[in-house]
Amino acid sequence: MIIKLTYQNLFNYLNYLKNKQIGDLISARVDIKNSRNFYWKINLINNNVLTIKQKKLYHENYESFAKEHEVYNFLHRCDDLIEIAYLFPNIINFDKLSSIIIYKYPETYTSLQTFYEDSTTFQTFIPHKLGKIIAKLHSKTSKSQKLYNCINENQLYLTMPCSGYLLNRFDINSISNFSAETLGFIAFYQRHETLQLAVKEIIKNHRRFSLTHNNLKLNKILISKTRLSKTKEENQTAIKLIDWENCSWGDPAFDVGTILAGYLQIWLNSLTINPAINLNESLQFATIPLEKLQPSLKFFLQAYLKEYPKILQDYPDFIKRVIQFAGLAIIYEIIAKIESRHIFQGTDMCMLQVAKNLLCKPSQSFRSILGITEGELSNY
Ligand SMILES: Nc1ncnc2c1ncn2[C@@H]1O[C@H](COP(=O)(O)OP(=O)(O)OP(=O)(O)O)[C@@H](O)[C@H]1O
Ligand SMILES: [Mg+2]
Repeated sequence: MIIKLTYQNLFNYLNYLKNKQIGDLISARVDIKNSRNFYWKINLINNNVLTIKQKKLYHENYESFAKEHEVYNFLHRCDDLIEIAYLFPNIINFDKLSSIIIYKYPETYTSLQTFYEDSTTFQTFIPHKLGKIIAKLHSKTSKSQKLYNCINENQLYLTMPCSGYLLNRFDINSISNFSAETLGFIAFYQRHETLQLAVKEIIKNHRRFSLTHNNLKLNKILISKTRLSKTKEENQTAIKLIDWENCSWGDPAFDVGTILAGYLQIWLNSLTINPAINLNESLQFATIPLEKLQPSLKFFLQAYLKEYPKILQDYPDFIKRVIQFAGLAIIYEIIAKIESRHIFQGTDMCMLQVAKNLLCKPSQSFRSILGITEGELSNY
């Protein structure tokens, strides 16, 4: 029988599981924010937290937790990929029929998004550690034929989100149903043919290279405040990546570009837009200036390339693609905001202009966002 979890039946459901690993529950919090799934967080007596997620019934991706669970189990069975398995949060129960997945993790974890919202400094050891671990994810899995076969069997192919808008696949008759904000975005997008061409090209020609997460926004990266420290650089569980439901055999440049986009959005979200001043001037007035984030961007990319230098031989235009995917990731964020909150305002237009530059002029953009050339990055 399919169970639809509610606040009322949640505790009965957990009791029914009789899962010894759950332990005593102390408080529950329902947090629905902008999530596509239902989810609950429950604090446990032993300083652990349970996160329970349920797919909405008839959701087009109803099967996606099953895929995440399959990859998680597979990685735990492979000795050579165990380091990658540690990147996943512990899954303590998966109910395929009702599409309910339960994770357990220590409460010391916080998302990188929250971490940066609360902090005014950008210490470089975090992006350094992150670059290294993402490089391991890509390099180790790219060599695993067994994992490739597992992913093929489960048909984990990357489907780029939002293709309706971006590939102009929407039905012209449905335009009357679009909000004013959506139309504002589409009008900009359709006016800039070079942007459309760049988006279509990158979506069409994305590479199939290794296991990729495909949704590495800063709120999908958890760090352990107690374990992540300069002295314990090598600690394997200091960083966890959550929400693997979009994972596939995909393009590593998409993961790396999405993380860069996350950092760039800290800068872009701090802009104050004044209609009287142009884009370049607005960009200078950010309360968190780009210069403050540049060391993080450099340390992240440099650590990635140092851990996985072979990517530049196997994928010669990797850096160019990373920058372009950063642009695409910013566009995805803008579309998500329009869809969930019906917002498309001055800052979003600014973000769109920056995304356009990243997609259409990647080399020039590399210099302007990192403040150095590609050659200088390796010596940084
Ligand atoms: N495994 C986990 N460990 C810790 N926290 C988690 C975990 N899974 C989810 N969370 C918390 O729940 C929130 C929502 O989870 P998540 O991002 O996975 O939801 P989602 O519905 O898949 O989101 P999206 O709509 O972006 O796909 C996260 O921001 C995080 O705070
Ligand atoms: Mg998700």
